[in-house]
Amino acid sequence: MKEIALLNYSGGSSRILHVSRDELLPSEAALSVFDGNTAQLFADRDPERSLALPPGESAKNWASVERIINRALAVSMGRDGLIAGIGGGVVTDVTAFAASIYMRGCRLILVPTTLLSMVDAATGGKTGFDFGGVKNLVGSFYTAEEVRICPCMLETLPEREYLSGMAEVLKHAMLTPGPGAGGLLDIVASEKDAILARDAQTLERLIPAAVKVKVDIVSKDLREQGIRAFLNLGHTFGHALEAATNFSRWSHGEAVAWGILRSLDLGVRIGLTDKDWADETRHLIADYGFDIVTPQVAPGEIKAAMVDDKKKKDGRLRFVLMKGPGEPVLQEVPEVDLDAVLGIE
Ligand code: GLY
Repeated sequence: MKEIALLNYSGGSSRILHVSRDELLPSEAALSVFDGNTAQLFADRDPERSLALPPGESAKNWASVERIINRALAVSMGRDGLIAGIGGGVVTDVTAFAASIYMRGCRLILVPTTLLSMVDAATGGKTGFDFGGVKNLVGSFYTAEEVRICPCMLETLPEREYLSGMAEVLKHAMLTPGPGAGGLLDIVASEKDAILARDAQTLERLIPAAVKVKVDIVSKDLREQGIRAFLNLGHTFGHALEAATNFSRWSHGEAVAWGILRSLDLGVRIGLTDKDWADETRHLIADYGFDIVTPQVAPGEIKAAMVDDKKKKDGRLRFVLMKGPGEPVLQEVPEVDLDAVLGIE
C-alpha cells in the first residue's frame, strides 16, 4: 500500500491509499457493501457479511441505508466494527452514511471502483442519499479511515462512465495553477491520448494528482463553510441539466462538462474570466470528447430546475466562476447574464 494523500481535518484524518488488487478489500470481519457489478468481482466473500445494492442512482435511498444497518445488526457488529463500501459513488455515499449513524458512528473504509468515485465521491467525507426527489438531501460529514484505490478497477469500466469521471478530473485540473506548473492541468493537456487509452502508468500519476486537488481543499474546509464550494465548479448548471432531463439523458460528467463550459461563458460575459484561457479550456474539454453544443432541452426548463434546486437549499443563485487557472471565485450574477448564457431571450 502506498499513501497517495492524507486528508487532515480538525479531529481526525483519512488516508488515501494506492493499493494492489489483492489489497482492496479489508479483512473478512468487515461488513462489505457492493453493487451488482462489484459483487461479481469479489464473489468469494462470506455471504453473511456481504450485501449487494441494486445498481444505479435509484439505490441511493433510505431503504439501502436500512439494509446495511439491518445486516450490521444481524452479524452483531459493534461500534468498533468495520463497514466497507466497494463500488461507485452511490455505494460509497450510502455506505458511508450508514456507517456514520450505526451506533453513532462505526469504522469505515471506502473502495471506489469508478474514476468518478476515486477522484471525487469517496474522498472528503460527504455522505448521503436522495430523498423527496432531491439529490443528497439527507447526509452527514463522515470521513473514511482509509480510501483504497486501485486503478486496475478502471480496466473494465464502460467508456461513458470513465469519461464521466474525466469531467471531474478536468474540473480539478482547472482549480490548479498552470499551464507549465507541472501539475494536473499539464497532465490532462499533454497526455490526453494515454489518459483516454487508460494507460496504467499514466493513471498512476493522474489519479493521485486529481485526488490531491480535492484533499488540499477539503483539508482546509471539510464542512464547506468556504473554499470547498469551489469543487462545485460546473455543478449548478450541470445539476440543473440533469434535473431538467430527469437524470436520464446525460451522465453526471457530461452534465458537469457542459456546466463548466457555461460557467466559462458566464465568467467571460461579466468580464471576470480571462477569455484566451476560457477558449483554451473549451478546446481541452472538447478534445476529451464532451459535447460543447447546447443540449436539446428548453433553456427555460434548465433555469427552472436551477431556481427550484436553489430554493430548496440556500435560496441564492451563486456560481463558481474562474478568473483563470487556479483562481475560482464564488459569486452571484445578474439574472440577465445568466439568461443570456442559457440562451433565454
Ligand atoms: N463533490 C464536491 C465535494 O465533495 O465537495
